[in-house]
Amino acid sequence: MADGLAKPEEKLFLRALSGETLPTPPIWLMRQAGRYLPEYRAVRAKAGSFLDLCYSPELAAEVTLQPIRRFGFDAAILFSDILVVPQALGQKLWFVEGEGPRLAPVADAARLAEIDRAADPEVLAPVLETVRRVKVALPRETGFIGFCGAPWTVATYMVAGRGTPDQGPAKALFQADPALFQAIVDRIVAASIDYLAAQLAGGVDAVQIFDSWAGSLGAEDFERWCIVPTRKIVEGVRARHPQARIIGFPRGAGRLIPDYVRQTGVDAAGLETEIDRAFARDAIQSLVPVQGHLDPLTLRAGGPELEREVAAIRDAFGARPFIFNLGHGILPDTPIAHVERLLAAVRA
Ligand code: CP3
Repeated sequence: MADGLAKPEEKLFLRALSGETLPTPPIWLMRQAGRYLPEYRAVRAKAGSFLDLCYSPELAAEVTLQPIRRFGFDAAILFSDILVVPQALGQKLWFVEGEGPRLAPVADAARLAEIDRAADPEVLAPVLETVRRVKVALPRETGFIGFCGAPWTVATYMVAGRGTPDQGPAKALFQADPALFQAIVDRIVAASIDYLAAQLAGGVDAVQIFDSWAGSLGAEDFERWCIVPTRKIVEGVRARHPQARIIGFPRGAGRLIPDYVRQTGVDAAGLETEIDRAFARDAIQSLVPVQGHLDPLTLRAGGPELEREVAAIRDAFGARPFIFNLGHGILPDTPIAHVERLLAAVRA
């Protein structure tokens, strides 16, 4: 640069993620592009199905930007889904309206053989095109987050062929045939490294690894199926992008999160709603910046309880690097006025 000075970081999201304590925490919300927004529902209707939306760069970029335009969040998250990775691996994927994802289950060696190949770059190409489009359209002060699902969470869907209340089918498989389950996890790890590296090359500022079902594993299984594969992804991504900033979100892992942070090497940790705040501050935020953890139900309910919770969360985490978010995705019937109240309260 002409004056020899490094450009100061303008994105509050990146400053917090890099370890800076800010007077006002940056804020974004998981699933911030979604059905609670009329403008999302309009684009979604135009796209046809949810997957068509994920694979239409123009429309996916548009819905990624909608919550930034309406609310001015400090970060945008790429609009896609964690299950595009199994689809790229060759597994059939579709969404049942009002229910959720369905996949042709991979529960034996024969089914694994069908997806025993590298991820098909053609499948993921439209998502990477979305990254490039969002990158050029985002305000310069807005962070941009890419993501993938963690191997354990993605495997629970691949094995059961759908969401499951207790992850029973995936657990049954790793108990009955750990080598087969390991082979599935290894395929997800390899595909996720390539996918996140491509998102970073396309211009995302940071990536988040969603482990939505981390809380269903005991400590030993958690180490084997959450920590170890996540560490491989972190190392694989950093081998290609040494400066990559990575947020881990092992939802529900609670007291296992400090181990997860130390062993995976993530730069920041997402906190679920249920976590004990004093523990999270003393045992997790002392290691890395944290992100979370307002209850989506409290946001939906609004009222004085919302203000109280925002104040309590800011009190607990405001003295160290912190990114305000929910503890899980925003609910589709959340009133827009409550999101506006939330932003006002966080930025007050
Ligand atoms: O956060 C964002 O706004 C980015 C986009 C994003 C979506 N899904 C869009 C989506 C992200 C990061 C995800 C992650 C995801 N997808 C996870 C991990 C996080 C979590 O929620 O636990 C999981 C488990 C999935 C798989 C998935 N996708 C399920 C189980 C469902 C059905 C539930 C539902 O809310 O309908 C989806 C669908 C989905 N993914 C929607 C959106 C906006 C709703 C689709 C619609 O418009 O009907």
